Amino acid sequence: MKGVIFTEFLGMVAGRFSEEMVDDIIDDADLPSGGAYTSVGRYDHSEIVSLVGALSGRTGAPVPDLVKAFGHHLFGRLSALHPEFLLGVGDALDFLESVDKVIHVEVLKLYPDAMLPRFDTTRDGKRLQMIYSSPRGMEDLAEGLIRGCAEHFSQDLHIERHARPDGSTEFNLENAT
Ligand code: HEM
Repeated sequence: MKGVIFTEFLGMVAGRFSEEMVDDIIDDADLPSGGAYTSVGRYDHSEIVSLVGALSGRTGAPVPDLVKAFGHHLFGRLSALHPEFLLGVGDALDFLESVDKVIHVEVLKLYPDAMLPRFDTTRDGKRLQMIYSSPRGMEDLAEGLIRGCAEHFSQDLHIERHARPDGSTEFNLENAT
């Protein structure tokens, strides 16, 4: 997993909790990398799972809630780091529909070793279905990113989510504004 995900996660922990909490969860998680991340580096996916688990242990907040909150926060950070991706995009569903075929394709040019999920999308006016598949199973992160995207566009998105028998996750989104 790209270092940018780790640096943004630890930045969120520092901002919402404290620098001390960052040091504590790095100690608790006992990470192969030692927790010294650079945004261009690449680290084992299991390290983010360990860090979130450690934060859950210290705060008592459930892991899925922390991952969704991180996804929400991450959307704001990624859109600030890459404003070019949002240029000319009028609404949240248009943006979300373009993640797989446009945004993540560009991301792969910037970070050739990125490991990205797949989204199969079907659009019908005010509705968008996104089917998320990834061996990393980060559907809570996807939900948080979707929520962060809705907030960015000041849109009230109705989000329905369910697991599919093949292990993928279906998101049915409807623009309520
Ligand atoms: C400005 C927009 C975006 C940028 C620049 C961006 C970039 C990235 C990057 C750099 C990664 C890390 C890849 C790795 O660790 O190797 C990633 C992963 C991911 N992205 Fe995006 N992304 C954007 C928007 C979105 C949105 C809106 C969604 C959800 C609908 C999304 C879903 C995900 C998920 C779930 C992952 C985790 C990897 C996995 O599930 O396999 N991204 N993205």
